[in-house]
Amino acid sequence: MTTTISLQALQKSFDSHPVLRGINLTVKSGEIVGLIGPSGAGKSTIIKTMLGMERADSGQARVLNTQMPNRLILGQIGYMAQTDALYESLTGRENLTFFGRMKLISGTQLKAEITHVSQVVDLTDDLDKRVAGYSGGMKRRLSLAIALLGHPKLLILDEPTVGIDPALRRQVWHELGILRDQGCSILVTTHVMSEAELTDRVALLIGGRITAFDHPQKLEQAYGVPTIEDVFLKAEKEATTCE
Ligand SMILES: Nc1ncnc2c1ncn2[C@@H]1O[C@H](COP(=O)(O)OP(=O)(O)OP(=O)(O)O)[C@@H](O)[C@H]1O
Ligand SMILES: [Mg+2]
Repeated sequence: MTTTISLQALQKSFDSHPVLRGINLTVKSGEIVGLIGPSGAGKSTIIKTMLGMERADSGQARVLNTQMPNRLILGQIGYMAQTDALYESLTGRENLTFFGRMKLISGTQLKAEITHVSQVVDLTDDLDKRVAGYSGGMKRRLSLAIALLGHPKLLILDEPTVGIDPALRRQVWHELGILRDQGCSILVTTHVMSEAELTDRVALLIGGRITAFDHPQKLEQAYGVPTIEDVFLKAEKEATTCE
């Protein structure tokens, strides 16, 4: 297994308020790492800092064997931001075609990929409607389909299943499992604790630090509780009592 993401002692403050207080995190090829933590804990900030959208105050981020920030490797990463960035006046298919071409996919390969990723997110029947008329969940699904284009070796998904119904959520996680088995590395943030159970390792971000990072069942054993939701609540309670 090669290491795809390696974060070392990453620190970031906003207006002298520390958000990341020394983040160490790795993601290897062929594994799904879940990043969980309370709202405002800094999950999106970890992602933005590692990708170079925010400047780290100190520490190091290596992604796909490259010191970050480095915009040249961004094309190799399937990134889905927490906020959808879509062209609303275009159709779903036109958005997929545009972003596919940006990833240098073209012709019959692009057509085949659009067919596949649209099936994964169940958007096939809505592909020729304008995105302005999509529901919130449909926009989320389109963003996920865009991130999946081009068979990226690394997927970074910031709350990919918000607004997605349970059946489709299961389908999406099934697809993530297939991609992981093909060697893809996946870093995914979520507030859905049943999704965190499906990861290979889960990192718990509390108070600007990763306070636990292990296989979900190992964390449950270590905390002596039955679910990751209980791990989360117990760890959060411990952190508040320590303050
Ligand atoms: N550009 C910014 N300027 C100032 N403060 C920011 C900025 N971006 C994030 N923050 C602050 O940093 C903290 C972490 O935000 P972040 O969005 O990373 O949290 P999160 O864990 O992703 O939360 P959520 O689960 O709600 O998405 C918050 O207090 C937020 O207000
Ligand atoms: Mg966030």
